[in-house]
Amino acid sequence: MPRYAHIIGWGKYVPPNILTNEALAKTVDTTDEWIRERTGIAQRHIASSKESTAMMAVHAAREAIEVADVNPSDIDLVIVATATPEYMFPATACLVQDALGASRAGAFDLEAGCSGFMYALATATGMIRGGMYNTILVIGAETLSRIIDWNDRATCVLFGDGAGAVVVRGSDEPGGVLASILGSDGSGGELLIVPGGGSKHPTGPDTVLSKMHTIKMSGREVYRFATRVMASASRQVAEQAGWSLDKIDLFIPHQANVRIIDSAAKALKLPPEKVFVNLDRYGNTSAASIPLALCEAIDAGKIKPGDHLVMVGFGAGLTWAACAVQWSTAKPGALAPPRAAVSRLRYLWSGIKSIVARALRHVDAAVSKLIDIFERKPPEE
Ligand code: COA
Repeated sequence: MPRYAHIIGWGKYVPPNILTNEALAKTVDTTDEWIRERTGIAQRHIASSKESTAMMAVHAAREAIEVADVNPSDIDLVIVATATPEYMFPATACLVQDALGASRAGAFDLEAGCSGFMYALATATGMIRGGMYNTILVIGAETLSRIIDWNDRATCVLFGDGAGAVVVRGSDEPGGVLASILGSDGSGGELLIVPGGGSKHPTGPDTVLSKMHTIKMSGREVYRFATRVMASASRQVAEQAGWSLDKIDLFIPHQANVRIIDSAAKALKLPPEKVFVNLDRYGNTSAASIPLALCEAIDAGKIKPGDHLVMVGFGAGLTWAACAVQWSTAKPGALAPPRAAVSRLRYLWSGIKSIVARALRHVDAAVSKLIDIFERKPPEE
């Protein structure tokens, strides 16, 4: 019996703090008109000092888990797609796994730039369809505001922060993620890069002074690459799913630039009502952009069971990726108050368990040290 991978839960988080084009134009040489005309962006959400990638990922994941109506301990694997992890290591996914109390789950981060969420969804689908796992939490989360050069008008107007998550579950019922394609062209790696802070240019005063820890981008070349791959990847994935292009009910592209989206939609002959766009409010949130758009499309009633969706991303690497999804999950009603309370209690309990586990680790280390001291033989005379 073939296995299928269905998206059964979804959730999102964006920081409440909004940075409008007008506000940005007060700090850097740009205008609202230029940004809207060239990109379609009107505002973006920016994380406060209390918000970070793991925190936003956890919020989005909790929402997705509630919609899916699964217990965190049912989750087999947590994948966090991000280019702005909490730390170099440990993986952000491990922090999320702990905060959720997903005690049985493995966890890892996946870095494929703005294609990250599509790569992660394809990975989860493969693992479920192959029978390795049954329930996988896939998250795209970014705090891009931390790696932006706020004096570079060519990049700082483009990006925003946020997170989106889905729960993917195995079933014998046909549908769900039916096809995926992944692509890479590393020869274009330098076109969109954060050059500092890795093994090639480790962080030091020189990398910081030359702002090598911030995004460097060749906008025009990335634009040309994006318009090329968006349409071709979407065509390929639809073909792999056995769909003609007119079968697509909703096209959910990576939200980077409305002109790139329009050009892909035109090449695919998709009318505007079949193309989901929300980048005017969020800017480019990299790996979070597609799950954020998916959540908003569901909230707006644009997706119903049986619909054929194509989601496509492109980004640093250079990478691109697409998935064809036959949607199968009805939008659930709000969680009943007792269930919501149980859920809050469960997260509180996992928080307490995590603190206790940390404390016990310290006690264990201290006791082991004491035993070592007592067992140490006195020096021979
Ligand atoms: N405000 C005002 N002027 C700006 C500006 C800004 N924020 N940013 C750039 N400009 C200026 C440039 O300096 C240039 O001036 P010049 O002609 O005097 O040299 C002019 O606008 C045109 O610049 P250009 O880079 O050719 O603009 P563009 O039409 O290509 O738009 C991007 C720039 C970045 C919006 C566009 O190239 C793009 O979206 N590229 C893809 C980026 C992307 O998606 N990255 C993420 C991938 S996941």
